[in-house]
Amino acid sequence: MKTDAIKKYVFGKPFETNSTVEDIETSDGVPSYVTVSGDSIHITYNMGKNDKVYGMGEAVRGINKRGWIYETYCSDDPMHTETKRSLYGAHPFIIVDGEDVFGLFVDYPDRVTFDIGYTSINVIDITVGAPDYKLYLIEGETPLEIVRKFRQLIGRSYIAPFWSFGFQQSRWSYNTSRDVQSVIDNYRDNGFPIDAVYLDIDYMESFKDFTVSEQNFPDFGEFVKSVKAQNIHLVPIIDAGVKIEDGYDVYEEGRDNDYFCKDENGEDFVAAVWPGKVCFPDFLNPKAAEWFGMKYKTLTDLGIDGFWNDMNEPAIFYSEKGLERAIDKVTSYKGKNIGIYDFFGLKDTVLGVSNSPDDYSSIYHNVNGESVCHDTVHNIYGYNMTKSASDAFKKIEPDKNILMFSRASYIGMHRYGGIWMGDNQSWWSHIKLNLQMLPSLNMCGFMYTGADMVGFGDHCTEELALRWLALGIFNPLMRNHSALGTRNQEFYRFENRDAFRNLLKLRYALIPYLYSEYIKSVENSDLMFKPLSFEYRGDRFAEAVEDQLMVGESIMIAPVYEPNAIGRSVYIPEDMIAVKFRSEDDYSVQSYSKGHWFVEIANDEVVVFIRKNKALPLVKSADCTVNIDYSTLRFIGEIEDEFEYTLCRETGASNGESIISKENYSVSAPDNGTLKFNKI
Ligand code: GLC
Repeated sequence: MKTDAIKKYVFGKPFETNSTVEDIETSDGVPSYVTVSGDSIHITYNMGKNDKVYGMGEAVRGINKRGWIYETYCSDDPMHTETKRSLYGAHPFIIVDGEDVFGLFVDYPDRVTFDIGYTSINVIDITVGAPDYKLYLIEGETPLEIVRKFRQLIGRSYIAPFWSFGFQQSRWSYNTSRDVQSVIDNYRDNGFPIDAVYLDIDYMESFKDFTVSEQNFPDFGEFVKSVKAQNIHLVPIIDAGVKIEDGYDVYEEGRDNDYFCKDENGEDFVAAVWPGKVCFPDFLNPKAAEWFGMKYKTLTDLGIDGFWNDMNEPAIFYSEKGLERAIDKVTSYKGKNIGIYDFFGLKDTVLGVSNSPDDYSSIYHNVNGESVCHDTVHNIYGYNMTKSASDAFKKIEPDKNILMFSRASYIGMHRYGGIWMGDNQSWWSHIKLNLQMLPSLNMCGFMYTGADMVGFGDHCTEELALRWLALGIFNPLMRNHSALGTRNQEFYRFENRDAFRNLLKLRYALIPYLYSEYIKSVENSDLMFKPLSFEYRGDRFAEAVEDQLMVGESIMIAPVYEPNAIGRSVYIPEDMIAVKFRSEDDYSVQSYSKGHWFVEIANDEVVVFIRKNKALPLVKSADCTVNIDYSTLRFIGEIEDEFEYTLCRETGASNGESIISKENYSVSAPDNGTLKFNKI
């Protein structure tokens, strides 16, 4: 690889995150337009008035990150409002696109603050938590070139199994095997395609990792087999915390072998999460990581071939010490006539018990015999949990590609699994946030991703569900997931079932395209989801678009994310044809010339904008991914002479990864109204 446009600067003694895969010589000094001040923990850059800033991966706000302050700090926070600074993933990479075009990756596994025109509107000021970090400066002509170089630097992204491009239904929780079967039956009876159903924490025995409740899921292995026979994958959750309970093998093995994180006294660090008191496996200790990874075998032996790793920031509800401190504070007010500020302080004391900095600084890791405080490595905990599983899968079932995605992440983890966008809400604004995070995550290497479609927290409406689905069908990870106590949002619960069925089937018709574009963007270090500004450089309108995306090489999407809308304004950056789908077979086509348009989109429709001289491959939908019939392939679009398209297909697995074959098609001008194509 050509890395001469990447410069690496090393400050102090950085902790090795293994975020990169390329060896780059360390440069002396500092880059000319980045000034590192005395204590070498500030990186500042003066932006031009119209400079744009991209990146930051999983973060709130727009695709252009300018005008806010972000902190890379894996945080368990379900309120993704626009003033939040951190979410579950920590992705300290930005691209500045202005007179200078460059990327900055601050490889530091704890808090890094990116003040991008917040304190001073034209200044980027990056503050690193400690003076021990690596700084990569990536130069190039365009943001896309920088993404490509950066992605080569950090290594090839994880490739999810083909079946995981099917629709997946989740809820916290389907409590019994009967509940799960009823979800499957309802989807199938309604003619809705589906490939997976999720098992949230209640499938376990008292929330103990790698156990299954015998009462609620009797003969689990048989059950897994029986749903597999219906072409359904069950995807159980694995939480980071291991319940403290005598007689529970995972706990006892971890305790006896010193595989858990320690506190400042060298005792196992204890916190409370879903199972009550837990210990955290020390994923930074290679032996502990290997041990925990092999535990997934308990479930893969029963036929499970997909997992989601959760609570791995790690999330801490409370620690005994933290709780005691809070209770002392609260009781100290008893009988006193407290002022209003004391009252608010009291509230904050109680709320501050969870995920408290005091607790994180009491956690210690054993890194090859050296005790390392969690405070300096917080962001790579979940990363290493996911890596431990991925490493183990290669040993346990090399002939399978097992689905793995995580909540917490750091750059580097993208090689081992995908991520979902965490606990969002059934809010209209979160449809837009879902859209805006897709390209930002792609820039940081996270390609298998998606939001909890229809929203995790809060109650949804039928209209929101349909509009979200119209975006969800383009997310690689297309999962409908919701929280305990919220309105049921499985698609068969709503009145207009025909519309839900049609859109779900459209997803399946599009899977060959989406999968192919996904594979190609992984292999070419490209973006599957591109902001328009990356494609139409110099077009000031395209450069300002924040709510439309290029998806792969042929299409653009512009989903509706507001209630009671009859359509939306769309900027058409080049002549395109809009295909308005009511179903995979029922669609109308309209040509649009470059410019601003209002496009009517009813809530049972999806509009796909196809670029001129490009085509969109489609197949006939199927009830699940294994039944997709590629002989039904067709192309739609407007081709003047010829367009070549490469279709990627999964043909098996080896060494824990999908084997992918490629088929090239030549697509040419229509004959009897449909595009001609042949394999070349
Ligand atoms: C966390 C997860 C969510 C899950 C819940 C219960 O909030 O992010 O997806 O449903 O825990 O396990």
